[in-house]
Amino acid sequence: MKECVIVDGLRTANARAHAEKGWFRNIRPDELLTAVYDALFKRNPKVKPEDIEAVYCGTANQAGMQNDIARLAWLAGGYPESVATNGIGQQCPSGMAAVEHAARAIMCGEGDIYIASGVEDMQKVPMAYDMDFPPRLLNRYKFEDIPMGATAEKVAEKWNVSRKDMENMAYWSHKKAAAATNAGKFKKEIVSIEGEKDDGTKFTVDRDQWIRENVSMEQMATMNPAYKPDGVVTAATSSPLTAGACALLLMSRDKADELGLDYHLKYVYGAMAGCDPTVMGIGPIYAAQKLLKRTGLTVKDIDVWELNEAFGSQSLAVLRELGLAENAPFDNVNVWGGALALGHPLGESGARIIITLNNIMKTDYKDAKYGVAMLCGGIGNANATLWQNVNK
Ligand SMILES: CC(C)(COP(=O)(O)OP(=O)(O)OC[C@H]1O[C@@H](n2cnc3c(N)ncnc32)[C@H](O)[C@@H]1OP(=O)(O)O)[C@@H](O)C(=O)NCCC(=O)NCCS
Repeated sequence: MKECVIVDGLRTANARAHAEKGWFRNIRPDELLTAVYDALFKRNPKVKPEDIEAVYCGTANQAGMQNDIARLAWLAGGYPESVATNGIGQQCPSGMAAVEHAARAIMCGEGDIYIASGVEDMQKVPMAYDMDFPPRLLNRYKFEDIPMGATAEKVAEKWNVSRKDMENMAYWSHKKAAAATNAGKFKKEIVSIEGEKDDGTKFTVDRDQWIRENVSMEQMATMNPAYKPDGVVTAATSSPLTAGACALLLMSRDKADELGLDYHLKYVYGAMAGCDPTVMGIGPIYAAQKLLKRTGLTVKDIDVWELNEAFGSQSLAVLRELGLAENAPFDNVNVWGGALALGHPLGESGARIIITLNNIMKTDYKDAKYGVAMLCGGIGNANATLWQNVNK
């Protein structure tokens, strides 16, 4: 089998998906994707758009402006008709699934150069927009148990995660994200594009909108529960509604060497696992356990982890069950913060955390051998991918 390496990865900043306050409120999700593709080709002039074998693009809600956005964004961006595109839907893990599809195609020898991308604008295409649940599904699960907030509450209760521990996690997520941003760590991955402030003033968006430098435990403790009156999950311990896009340039190692391109990580393994949709957030436990078992590794062999912080409750349940950490701050998990601070544009995040993992492993963890990126997904699909430093 061939090897698949990450040659590059770029993303927009993550903006609030908010009709009045979102920095990208007047930009369509296909335009976000085009901005990322344009920047990817500009930064990699040895690769021409027509050299791409195919584009896999993850999007959770493929409706409205995001209906077949894989194809429509590619063509609207002026890219060649001869390059095939394939929209991938797996709820939140969609972007990660796009990366896996491309990596596997490369390893099988079907092609040498692929783009794997992800995009979501949760304001323009709200969660579960136009979704028509099969009545038979509702014989199996209660409708009110399926929405994301309900699952976050159920996980908090069943896995005994306290509101204070979740807020402590949110606190550290913001602190780490702010520190990484201020140190310029995301500069290599964020494409600057023009957005709008609340008052309509145009400005260059080159940082994630949701990060709170002055996050306060005291203030978070006063917030109302977001999903039920006696609940423990608030807007602070939920990932926010977000808009963003990202793309990776994946290549066979042979082709990257032939073109003289640099790379640091190669794809080793991808594991998907399903779980009870009413506690969907715990899915990464099963995906990570499957990945470790099948690769003969243990938790201790993994040097650095990226876990998408859909909610504080599910993240803590996952980290505790895997024996990775009890409470924030975590050592080698979400080193530059997580989605509670950075945002979570559903189908984009699975690919975004791989881009961030790649940059963490090129810099702060450059001697590390293995990294894992993992995330949960609505209705009970989870995904985890294993990456290896090519020099180890
Ligand atoms: C939780 C949720 C319902 C809240 O939505 P909302 O009521 O529209 O609220 P916002 O996210 O805009 O936040 C409400 C307020 O709390 C504030 N807030 C949020 N986190 C805060 C924090 N850590 N400290 C202080 N204030 C905070 C916000 O700034 C906002 O006030 P503002 O508009 O004046 O800035 C929404 O973010 C949500 O649905 N999140 C989950 C998304 C999801 O399910 N993703 C999939 C996961 S699998």
